[in-house]
Amino acid sequence: MNLPDQVKIVEVGPRDGLQNEDQHLTFNQRVRFINMLEACGLQNIEAGSFVRPDRVPQMAGTEQVISQLNLEGETHFPVLVPNTKGLEDALACGVKEIAIFAAASETFSQKNINCSIEESIRRFTRVVNTALHQGIRVRGYISCVMGCPYEGNISSNTVIETAIKLIDLGCYEISLGDTIGTGTPLQTFELMEKIQKNIPRQQLAVHFHDTYGQALANIFSALQTGISVIDASVAGLGGCPYARGASGNVATEDVVFMLNGLGIHHGIDLEKLISAGRIICEQLKRPIMSRVNLATQF
Ligand code: HMG
Ligand code: MG
Repeated sequence: MNLPDQVKIVEVGPRDGLQNEDQHLTFNQRVRFINMLEACGLQNIEAGSFVRPDRVPQMAGTEQVISQLNLEGETHFPVLVPNTKGLEDALACGVKEIAIFAAASETFSQKNINCSIEESIRRFTRVVNTALHQGIRVRGYISCVMGCPYEGNISSNTVIETAIKLIDLGCYEISLGDTIGTGTPLQTFELMEKIQKNIPRQQLAVHFHDTYGQALANIFSALQTGISVIDASVAGLGGCPYARGASGNVATEDVVFMLNGLGIHHGIDLEKLISAGRIICEQLKRPIMSRVNLATQF
């Protein structure tokens, strides 16, 4: 098998994980959550988003969270930014990395960020130019790469064309989002093989939601094509307010357990991660979705 020796895990719990929860955490709880994750060895932790607080109230006050993080250390704390207003707010509190988020589905783009894909690329061009000029790293997301909650099937050509645009803008990495979790391993394998004809695998990440229970199988499939960046969320927290039925991201504990079994390095302390997952679920008053976490409870 052609598997990578090492993977980078991007922990999205404090953003994707919290953005759809009924229970809203305080700023201090969000900061403690991020610090706990960092103590597990995670070095890429999405810390929040600069979007409309009336649209995603769970992410309101991200600037207060950022202001309490050590932005000068080794850990990267990207934040989601949809437009220049979001970028201004992010820059004002000193972020060093942002993530822009486009979609491969017109309808999802409209529902999520209130503009067409084409208009979003225009907005992101301004955002990325300004960010890069100020030395800010930019990650790019594409949602609905394996299916859309409104349009159904999505053409892989649209995904690839959008990914090329984001790379051309200057994103250092593109995270391919299976927003509604309908992707299956063969579909994953084929998309990953095809997209690597246009974009080097080192610049690609996978972002699976586990709605249909396919996430780990899909990640294994992506690993076999040489992909080595995986987005995950502790305890399987997560969902998207603009994707009906979207459940949590793949649980970081489950990814780490699988990587251990495959002998792939990741740098994360599984025991600490399990403990972090339990603490956050207790605070959110919600069940743990990680199978590994549940299996190790006694
Ligand atoms: P809009 O309404 O089109 O913006 O929102 P507008 O430019 O027309 O402005 C209207 C008002 O919003 C103005 O305020 C602006 O100042 C304000 P007013 O003058 O009326 O008082 N405004 C903002 N306020 C705070 N932050 C901003 C901002 N921009 C404008 N950045 C916008 C466009 C994108 C902001 C809105 O639609 C929005 O906030 N959407 C939420 C997007 C979101 O967070 N979605 C979830 C994350 S994406 C995801 O989960 C998928 C992912 O995980 C991958 C996957 O799984 O597929 C990444
Ligand atoms: Mg997501």
